[in-house]
Amino acid sequence: MAKDVILTGLRANSEFHLGNYLGAILPMVELQKKHAGQYQLNMFIPDLHSFTTPIDHGKLYEQTHQNLKVFVAAGLDIDQPDTFIYRQSYIPAHSEMTWILDCFTYFGELSRMTEFKDKSEKQANVSAGLFNYPVLMAADILLYGAKWVPVGDDQRQHVEFTRDLAIRMNNKFGDLFVVPEDNTKQAEFTGRAEPVRIRSLRNPEKKMSKSIDDPAGTIMLSDSPEEAAKKVMEATTDSEASIRFDFEKQPGVSNLLQILALLGGKPQEEINKQWVGKTNYGELKSAVAEAVKNFLADLQAKLAKVDEARLMKKIEADEKAMQKVANTTLLKVQKAVGLRPA
Ligand code: TYM
Repeated sequence: MAKDVILTGLRANSEFHLGNYLGAILPMVELQKKHAGQYQLNMFIPDLHSFTTPIDHGKLYEQTHQNLKVFVAAGLDIDQPDTFIYRQSYIPAHSEMTWILDCFTYFGELSRMTEFKDKSEKQANVSAGLFNYPVLMAADILLYGAKWVPVGDDQRQHVEFTRDLAIRMNNKFGDLFVVPEDNTKQAEFTGRAEPVRIRSLRNPEKKMSKSIDDPAGTIMLSDSPEEAAKKVMEATTDSEASIRFDFEKQPGVSNLLQILALLGGKPQEEINKQWVGKTNYGELKSAVAEAVKNFLADLQAKLAKVDEARLMKKIEADEKAMQKVANTTLLKVQKAVGLRPA
């Protein structure tokens, strides 16, 4: 029997930040270790997703490769026979499947996507690509029959949408797609109570996002360890003068506790036990700064050692293998909708 598929994608419109790492890369690396041999693991760069908002197109190709290298530096074992890494645009079935899925997606449901609302508010000209983006994401997931899709909190609505769409298509056409599990099961699968949402160090009510919007609040994986430690020491906290893990009332402090737990590979409760009730925020910041500094120094040393030629060989072989899988699903769907003889 085919193995269940775990799949995730990370855009390459800029470098990765700590939120990307803790929300998506680290869970994949952990899942690979935990389930070696039991599952198929797909980790890819959705390069077609990268310009749903304006980017520097001259840098995209190189950025994609840089980010693929980060997967390896972060500990993804690319020698595992069931692990596949690839670039979305090298597998044309993603675009073809998107069009078909588009025609079964409702304008209303895409209009309700929080990410679309947030991002479209910030732009004068909103592209149809930004609106349509969750459908491409659904194609990314459904083409490979992924049951498990580890993502950060901001992407869970898109996974739910994918699930709804798969169920709708299955109801209409019979057993076409593997339906991804719901968000509660997804979170349980990654071993967390909830999907991770790392906050900006400066505006902890908001998620950590690309540095152009919020450089002081975002730790980029390419920041020098000292620079990153300084950002942590200058993080916004509150005037409560007592450490509590409560994102509503103390988002800044809670964010620091969360980062400390995830980077140290410790349960949140253990970290909370150690810190909750203490009054010295400086001490907490120093502990997080030290953890971030060590993490970045280690990651960057590993990144410098990634064998690019070997990585490229792996990507090209995986793209060939995944084209076959994607084309098989596409043909099944083409038959179901009447584009090919049944
Ligand atoms: P993207 O590229 O914006 O982000 C990549 C991953 O990082 C997570 N993430 C965070 N997690 C925690 N805290 C944060 N502050 C934070 N910021 C980002 C995101 O949740 C995501 O898991 N549409 C997706 C990419 C995508 C995809 C897919 C994902 C395309 N196709 C298929 C899964 C399956 C996106 O834009 O993520």
